Amino acid sequence: MWSPKSTDVHTPSRTSAMRALILAVFATLALSASAVTDVDILNFALNLECLEAQFYSYAALGVPLNATLTGNGPAPIGGAMASLSGFVKPIANEIAMDEISHVNFLRTALGAKAAVCPQVDIGPAFNTAVRAALGITDKNFDPYKDDTNFLLAAFLFEDVGVTAYKGAAPLIVDKGYLSAAAGILAVEAYHAGIIRTLLYQRAVQYVKPYNIQVALFVEKLSHLRETLDGTGNDDFGVIAPPATDNGFYFPFKSDMDSSLVPTDANAIAFSRTIPQVLSIVYGTPITSNPTKGLFYPNGINPAK
Ligand SMILES: *[C@@H]1O[C@H](CO)[C@@H](O)[C@H](O)[C@H]1NC(C)=O
Repeated sequence: MWSPKSTDVHTPSRTSAMRALILAVFATLALSASAVTDVDILNFALNLECLEAQFYSYAALGVPLNATLTGNGPAPIGGAMASLSGFVKPIANEIAMDEISHVNFLRTALGAKAAVCPQVDIGPAFNTAVRAALGITDKNFDPYKDDTNFLLAAFLFEDVGVTAYKGAAPLIVDKGYLSAAAGILAVEAYHAGIIRTLLYQRAVQYVKPYNIQVALFVEKLSHLRETLDGTGNDDFGVIAPPATDNGFYFPFKSDMDSSLVPTDANAIAFSRTIPQVLSIVYGTPITSNPTKGLFYPNGINPAK
């Protein structure tokens, strides 16, 4: 963590407001507004894992998830084997296997109630997100082009996964599911730490063809997330103080530190509510109550 802000500590009134938001979203999913069940929460997690697993499976293995894993869901939009160095490739392989295992675990745990994996966009959506983050309307971002683009694309997902599981934890009733969710949260946090560290390592390199250093590119992706989810204070880039448009980071300024572990003032990972998570993966501000978009062109799927 770094430079905690006092506003990062959530107040009880804000927590109850978040709970109301969660209930509102499940109402729009045609589920009972009176109770968010463990099955609903695990299915929400499964929808997120479907997206991550499709991305990493394509990037590392060059293939989408099979029908058993998706529950006969549709093929993703986009996806390609990433062109990775001998150093990053094994890391991509390992994360891919973890995400595939998460899909398998959640689908098995939910049994007949498991949602079909929704259609996910793991191609053009990344370009849309990057253009929004950078405030540009030209250039095409290919997440499979090289190490740096793959890491930037992975960065978009990993921190969201961590905060989603953290936000869902207090809502889970069954201790067995809670333990499993804690274990998955830990794995997502390992992944996020790996991705963030690899980006920090190349913070001063320029991302082609954007002519923007990695640290600033990451900062802009982070800012997009916290803008979409309406908080403005739950997401950090990989250097501190944050990279700015007029900063050049070669060599690192003497007062520059790493910012690898995004936390609140107590060094506790941030939580995101289900609507906050959806606002990011749908690429639409939370104030618009989005039901689909960006990485999920048709929205997520509820429990069967
Ligand atoms: C689907 O993929 C998983 C993970 O790679 C594998 O374990 C399983 O055997 C595959 N199922 C089929 C029917 O191919």
